[in-house]
Amino acid sequence: MEKRIKHALRLSAAALGVACLSGAASAADGWSYKDIADALHSVMESDRTVYTRLIVNRLQNQEKVIKASEHWKDDKALVLPAQMFRYGAEMVAEKGAKFSYSLISEWPVNKQNAAKTEVESAGLKAIAETKAPYYTEETLGGQKYFTAVYPDKAVAKACISCHNAHKDSPRDDFKMGEVMGGVVLRLPM
Ligand code: HEC
Repeated sequence: MEKRIKHALRLSAAALGVACLSGAASAADGWSYKDIADALHSVMESDRTVYTRLIVNRLQNQEKVIKASEHWKDDKALVLPAQMFRYGAEMVAEKGAKFSYSLISEWPVNKQNAAKTEVESAGLKAIAETKAPYYTEETLGGQKYFTAVYPDKAVAKACISCHNAHKDSPRDDFKMGEVMGGVVLRLPM
C-alpha cells in the first residue's frame, strides 16, 4: 500500500516536472528578441522613474532636504539618476549577463554619453521624432545584435530643471514629457 502511494507520488511529481519544463520551453519559444528587450526595458524604465520621482525629485526639488550631485561622495549627496542607471548597467556587465544597456543622448551633459555607432545616432533621431521605441539589428566586432533604442523622457521636474541649468548641457529648453535621450539595449543574436 505504502509502496503504491510512493509510486503515485513519484509519478505525479514527474508529471509536474514535465509540465513545468514544457511550460518553460514553450514560454521561451514564444518570446521574440523584441519581447525580451521590451520586458527588460520596462523594469529599467520603472526603476529609473521611481528613483527620480520618489527620491531625487521629492527630496531635492520638493522638500529640499538633500541635493543630487555627480560628485555625490564628496558632496554627501544623492546619486544622479543617470549614475544610478550606469552603476546598475555596470553590475549587470560584471555578472556576465548576455545583454548590455546604456543611456545616451543627442544633447549629452557628459560627452561620453553621445551616440557611438550609426545605429545609435539613427535610433536617437527616430525616437526624438516618434517618441516610440526603435528596433534594428547591427553587427559589432563580428557579433550580430538585436538593438533597441527606447525614448528616455522627462518624467519629473528634476529632470528638466537639472539639465536645463547644467553648465555642460547643450540645451536649456527641455520641457516635461519631452524625449531627453535614449536607452540602448543590445541582445546578441
Ligand atoms: C540633479 C541633476 C540631474 C537630474 C535630476 C537628472 N539628470 Fe540626467 N544627467 C545629469 C548629469 C550630470 C548627467 C551626466 C552624468 C554622467 O554621465 O555621469 C546626466 C545624464 C543624462 C542622460 C545621458 C546623456 C547626458 O546628458 O549625459 C540622459 C538621457 C538624462 N540624463 C536624462 C535625464 C532624465 C530623463 C532625468 C529625469 C528622469 C534626468 N536626466 C535627471 C544630471 C541630472
